Amino acid sequence: MSMVYLNGDFIPLEQARIPILDRGFIFGDGVYEVIPAYRGQPLALEQHLQRLEHSLAGIRLPNPLTPVRWQQLIEQLLAQAPNTDQSVYLQITRGVAPRDHAFPAQTPPTVFALAKPMPAPPTQWIQEGVSAITRPDNRWLRCDLKTTALLANLLLRQEAVEAGAVECVLIRDGMLTEGAASNILVVHQGQLLAPPRNHLILAGITCALTLELAARHQIPHQERPITESELRQAEELMLTSSTREIVPITVLDGQPVGNGKPGPVTRRLLALYQELKGP
Ligand code: PDD
Repeated sequence: MSMVYLNGDFIPLEQARIPILDRGFIFGDGVYEVIPAYRGQPLALEQHLQRLEHSLAGIRLPNPLTPVRWQQLIEQLLAQAPNTDQSVYLQITRGVAPRDHAFPAQTPPTVFALAKPMPAPPTQWIQEGVSAITRPDNRWLRCDLKTTALLANLLLRQEAVEAGAVECVLIRDGMLTEGAASNILVVHQGQLLAPPRNHLILAGITCALTLELAARHQIPHQERPITESELRQAEELMLTSSTREIVPITVLDGQPVGNGKPGPVTRRLLALYQELKGP
């Protein structure tokens, strides 16, 4: 039976309940984090907790727990979880109050956390790559906040699924932003490129770790705006996310990326990322 954390208690998932007027349910008025854990050890926990702080500040919700308390809570969840790689999900909403767009006064937030098994991406994805489609990025202008209000992302991802693709790559004003649930890295003229971290994308932790690996291993790289035509001329494309790690994209809108196979830069980064996860 899997245990979850809800407002101070560890309880079985089946018994976890929130009131119907929770603003997370009514408005999507909340933020979340997803933290990967390998052999019981969270990866880049500090960076995830910093991003959580940024998201909370962005929606003007005080952080209900200190970093030390978050860490303890995550350790407790992982200690109760099966001995496989896990993803830890944290969610904080603005709590329970009569429905009104304006923030309620003095309402305690709802704090929820759960760990669930995180299977490695399918071997076929890594060996052959996956296909992706592109769509206009029609989300709001605070994509740097990891909010639970994900409807635009869900609609875009669903379009990808219905097209038989794994991810939807988003383009705003002729520039690459990110994936519906991932960051996108491009290899263009031998250089690894990532879009700048601004309000138009989520500052992905996996993407940041990948860029750090590139820096440490002398792989030429740069964070700069990437045009749609650079995206379409890419020698290699990859997506990054905490739960999917690094996945090569070898088909974009039905066209092969480069030679249609995972390229050398992607394969190198995939190997380095496996090392980073630990023995
Ligand atoms: N999503 N961009 C978006 C819109 C995302 O939803 C995610 C991850 C990322 C990658 O961020 P990171 O490397 O820190 O996981 C980028 C998570 C996994 C999710 O919503 O489940």
